[in-house]
Amino acid sequence: MRVAVIGAAGGIGQALALLLKNQLPAGSDLALYDIAPVTPGIAVDLSHIPTFVSIKGFCGDDPTPALEGADIVLISAGVARKPRMDRSDLFNVNASIIRSLSNRIANVCPKALVGIITNPINTTVAIAAEVLMAKGVYDKNRLFGITTLDIIRSETFVAELKGKNPSQIHVPVIGGHSGATILPLLSQVEGVIFTEDEVKTLMIRIQNAGTAVVTAKDGGGSATLSMGYAACRFSLALVRAAQGEKNVIEYAYIEGNGKYARFFAQPIRLGKGGVEKILDHGPLSIFEQEALDNMLDTLHKDIKMGEEFVK
Ligand code: NAD
Ligand code: LMR
Repeated sequence: MRVAVIGAAGGIGQALALLLKNQLPAGSDLALYDIAPVTPGIAVDLSHIPTFVSIKGFCGDDPTPALEGADIVLISAGVARKPRMDRSDLFNVNASIIRSLSNRIANVCPKALVGIITNPINTTVAIAAEVLMAKGVYDKNRLFGITTLDIIRSETFVAELKGKNPSQIHVPVIGGHSGATILPLLSQVEGVIFTEDEVKTLMIRIQNAGTAVVTAKDGGGSATLSMGYAACRFSLALVRAAQGEKNVIEYAYIEGNGKYARFFAQPIRLGKGGVEKILDHGPLSIFEQEALDNMLDTLHKDIKMGEEFVK
């Protein structure tokens, strides 16, 4: 497998590159790209870790050398939040970055599986889809907004509250990746019973977890290390499925059947070509159904903003 990390000199990019250098299957190639001149040096640094994963770093204006031959492209290029900002405040800068990178992907590696980390995810995924479509290479099964951070946070917070082992807790999270569009399906967590108050408190904690990190970092950015871990987990699932492993199930923000919105985070089974099957998210509690109904206006607006930006 050849995996490209774009935005590789950033907080997420470096953490992700480190984890992938350690965890990609033997024989894989890792290509790092960032506009920052330090990027080739980051690759040299990581190349001293004794794994059978080759690594090269590229910088400058053109990501082409990193994208050439890529099977998977992971994008965390762009700016991160500071206190008192919403993810949507990142649109002005990050929309153009995603448009430009998607254009290069369309030209250089149109068949790659593309995972977008750059915020606002609800909108940047729509931008990438529109650019790839305009170039005639869009395959909705190959484009993912990575929402795994919402899953790992939910699992951690539930385990903490109930004194359980987090590795044995599974919390589905559907919708999008900002505020009220993040919908953890706590009613589906096996082996745990919540009071109504616990559900409300957990929901708020999960939806505000990104802001909690931004506030705690006090101007130093947003989640990087937990996101690097989350993106690595999702990328390795893409790799395992691409290499023929069966029944690889993940959650991601993808273009599905449009039941709720054009893009929606939902359970998927991964295969060699990306999304192999969209799975049912299962029954919702009355509280979850209300939360779902209430988020849809925001989600539709976020998506439209991305579509209109490209048009
Ligand atoms: P960061 O500022 O540490 O790193 C961003 C990197 O992108 C920098 O190294 C910068 O040089 C690079 N960059 C900027 N423009 C580029 C371009 N055109 N091509 C290549 N590289 C470019 O930020 P970070 O903390 O790594 O966050 C990156 C993004 O990820 C932000 O938008 C943030 O909001 C988002 N994020 C998403 C999630 C999620 O759950 N999906 C979680 C955390 C952060
Ligand atoms: C997160 O959820 O941590 C990321 O989306 C970054 C942010 O701005 O909150």
